[in-house]
Amino acid sequence: MRIVRDRRQVTALCREWRRRDARKLALVPTMGNLHEGHLALVRHARERGDRVLVSIFVNPLQFDRAEDLAGYPRTLEADTKRLAEAGVDALFCPEAGEMYPEGATSRAQVRVPGLSEVLEGESRPGHFDGVATVVAKLFNLAQPDVAVFGEKDYQQLLVIRAMVEALNFPVVVDAIPTVREEDGLALSSRNGRLSRAARRRAPELHRCLRDTAEACLLEPDQWPRIFNELITNAEQRLRAAGLQPDYVSIRRAEDLGLPQAGDRDLVLLGAAWLDGVRLIDNLRLQYGRFAGAR
Ligand code: PAF
Repeated sequence: MRIVRDRRQVTALCREWRRRDARKLALVPTMGNLHEGHLALVRHARERGDRVLVSIFVNPLQFDRAEDLAGYPRTLEADTKRLAEAGVDALFCPEAGEMYPEGATSRAQVRVPGLSEVLEGESRPGHFDGVATVVAKLFNLAQPDVAVFGEKDYQQLLVIRAMVEALNFPVVVDAIPTVREEDGLALSSRNGRLSRAARRRAPELHRCLRDTAEACLLEPDQWPRIFNELITNAEQRLRAAGLQPDYVSIRRAEDLGLPQAGDRDLVLLGAAWLDGVRLIDNLRLQYGRFAGAR
């Protein structure tokens, strides 16, 4: 596996692959501290591309709290080993100064208005501008044919898809279902920061979303009238379990708009604080089908 830290070199490498043999290049952007969820993205990328590039970059632009950026787990050595074993062709792992040579912020930023300002965006102002900007930079540097993201960060996925469509990036965005621990907790690099006691309580977010989703799906003809009460109950249940809900919300899956009568493809999203760690999760609510894994 090639390891590249320089942005010009990553562009040159991808061009060289294309010239030699790669008809399709697949990119998996990450912030490192890799877990099974990331490896599922890599496996998918290997199926989709002749060459696979993974990036590891803890992007300062998308952190709204300095302590979150400082405490974000950095495990480059172990990550490199896992990626090499997973058959990745190259790892791009630049320093912050390489991605943002102009300083702590980018001179130009990408913003996806509307979608970036609700839910996660309301709690973490500027977060999705940072995500969209770094992903646009990675797309320009590598020019991938396919880029792979996880459905766990559902809002991020929609923001990236909207950016790709609006700015005509010639890349297909693939999404992979959330990978979970046996007890339902969605895999996340932040889970490692939970104390033992908090780790035991953390799956309650998923359980609560799952039960709320099931309650919704019992009465599809009552959508969206029944949602408010179910959401209030879910937030109470999270508080009773020792989590501090930030939001539980049911939105249109397509654009995170508020559901109207007749909308049938929805997503239930939740975010909660536990032990100083922010957990997020979501389940798709599709009429006639429960898309949430137990
Ligand atoms: O999901 C992530 O790990 C990050 O938000 C991403 C997409 C790599 C951008 O920094």
